[in-house]
Amino acid sequence: MAEIGKVLILGAKGTLGGQLMRLFPGATGWDREDVDVLDAAAFQARLDGLGFVPAAVVNCVAFNDVDGAEDHPERAFALNAEFPGRLARWTKEKGAALVHYSTNYVFDGALGEYRESDAPAPLSAYGNSKWRGEQLVADSGGRWYVVRTAVIFGPKGESELSKKSFVDIMLDLAAKRDTIEAVADEINSVTYAADLAAATRGLLEAASPAGVYHATNRGGASWYDFAREIYRIAGKKTAVLPVPSTRFPRKAKRPPRAILINTQLPPLRPWQEALADFLGSRA
Ligand SMILES: NC(=O)c1ccc[n+]([C@@H]2O[C@H](COP(=O)([O-])OP(=O)(O)OC[C@H]3O[C@@H](n4cnc5c(N)ncnc54)[C@H](OP(=O)(O)O)[C@@H]3O)[C@@H](O)[C@H]2O)c1
Repeated sequence: MAEIGKVLILGAKGTLGGQLMRLFPGATGWDREDVDVLDAAAFQARLDGLGFVPAAVVNCVAFNDVDGAEDHPERAFALNAEFPGRLARWTKEKGAALVHYSTNYVFDGALGEYRESDAPAPLSAYGNSKWRGEQLVADSGGRWYVVRTAVIFGPKGESELSKKSFVDIMLDLAAKRDTIEAVADEINSVTYAADLAAATRGLLEAASPAGVYHATNRGGASWYDFAREIYRIAGKKTAVLPVPSTRFPRKAKRPPRAILINTQLPPLRPWQEALADFLGSRA
């Protein structure tokens, strides 16, 4: 295992960024209140003022509003594609590694299970923006890592705007309702933010070759499966009814089944185990 050296984490107060800050003690973390990464001049000034060249930059900043991206594709492309492209050129120039995260929504879901080498075919503006980001990062030719992940859960990020994860939304609903409906015909991989942060650390420590990596907890789950398991582990009596995705019409098209198969990194534990660990840590 190699020493990683100094690390800069962007989006440090988000769901994943918060876990990375715990796992990389001594890392420098920036969030929106430190600098708007889309203000290219201000961001460059912050980089110049760092006083050191980071050995690795880990970029968690993203436009994650999947439906909102259909109305504002230019915002999604600016943050999910153009910014990581600029960042990758800077890290290449400085000889730093770059970890950038992407999504299972770069796939259309027709194949169901996807390896790192499978060809993306996004269905939505969000998926397209993330796929373009992957390409621009790879084009830099530096020591880049595109880590595709899916449905992240974990403690809410420190940032005020940080969204609650599906787990907390389901637990809030359980306090108010006897029955809830959950979509049963959309299947994704599921990822505990702490496990993804640990996989990221492993990737950098192993000085892995540049490329695309899949990092999610093992297995797949529909929103219905996920909700049932949350209530089972948390001992909630709320009943979960399976419904088709047409029950909740949304702007963006989602893949019906997009499970990420990890063939490159040490395997992560099954999602049910990770979920039990997360819920147990808060009991
Ligand atoms: N969450 C998921 O289920 C999921 C699934 C697949 C892939 N991913 C990918 O995984 C990565 C991490 O996701 P996450 O859920 O941890 O994201 P997150 O919680 O939304 O965190 C992103 C952080 O970046 C900050 N940020 C946004 N725009 C910024 C800007 N212009 N300048 C500076 N900071 C800015 C956000 O601040 P504000 O809160 O103030 O906006 C937030 O603290 C992303 O690349 C995401 O696309 C996530």
